[in-house]
Parts: sequence; structure tokens; C-alpha cells
Amino acid sequence: MAYSQKVVDRFENALKNPAKHGVGRFDPKDADIATGMVGAPSCGDVMKLDLKLTTDSGQNDERILDVKFKTYGCGSAIASSSELVDMLKGRTLEEAKAIKNKDIAKALDLPPIKIHCSVLAEDSIKQAIQDFESKL
Ligand code: FES
Repeated sequence: MAYSQKVVDRFENALKNPAKHGVGRFDPKDADIATGMVGAPSCGDVMKLDLKLTTDSGQNDERILDVKFKTYGCGSAIASSSELVDMLKGRTLEEAKAIKNKDIAKALDLPPIKIHCSVLAEDSIKQAIQDFESKL
């Protein structure tokens, strides 16, 4: 199995400059933070996604201002997390809900055996949005 250059670049950039590429966490006590944490049953890898949201609109159009992740897993999972950071910034929650694993897999040219790594990323978005909605 060969990783695409996109996966290699995303993975290496996250290792070289983690803060610039979204590795980290926000203070979970902040009211504008939503968190999704999911695991992949097939491999045991774990992805945690923190969204920083606008809280003042009151119009049901909350927007994602910033994103951070911590991922314990394979290179594809880390690359998927980093890709997701860029995909999510500036989106509304409705737009974020529309992001599917196939969008991430396509952006990274993931090999078929690594598609489940992008599923982890999609699941982390869903979990984070559920966390936000549970606090309303
Ligand atoms: Fe586990 Fe990629 S092999 S998420």
C-alpha cells in the first residue's frame, strides 16, 4: 500500500509544526467549545476534535471559528484530522454536517484499505456537533 503525497505532506506537516496544523485542544470549560471523541473498532485508534464556535448569533447559524485535534493513530488518521481542520474552519454547523468521509478520502487520495480512517474523521464531526447541540 502506498500513501499519496497528500497524506505524506499532511502527516509530516502536523509532526513538524503541530500548532500550525491544528494539533492541540481548547479549554473544555469554555462555553463556546464542542468536543467529539471517537474510536475505530477495527484498529483501536482514537480521534478527538474540538470546535470553537460563535455563540452570539442566536440565529441557528453558529459558525466554526477554529478547530483543534488530537489523534492517536495511523498516518491516514492524522492526515484526515489535519484535512478536516481546514475543511471545517469558517463553516456553519449545517455545512459541517454535510462533510462526509468520502470528501476527506477524496481530498487525500486515501487507499481503499484506509477509508475507515476518514470515517473516524466524519464521526468526530458528528460527535462534536451532538455535544454542541446537547448544551443548548
Ligand atoms: Fe486506524 Fe487508520 S488504521 S484510523
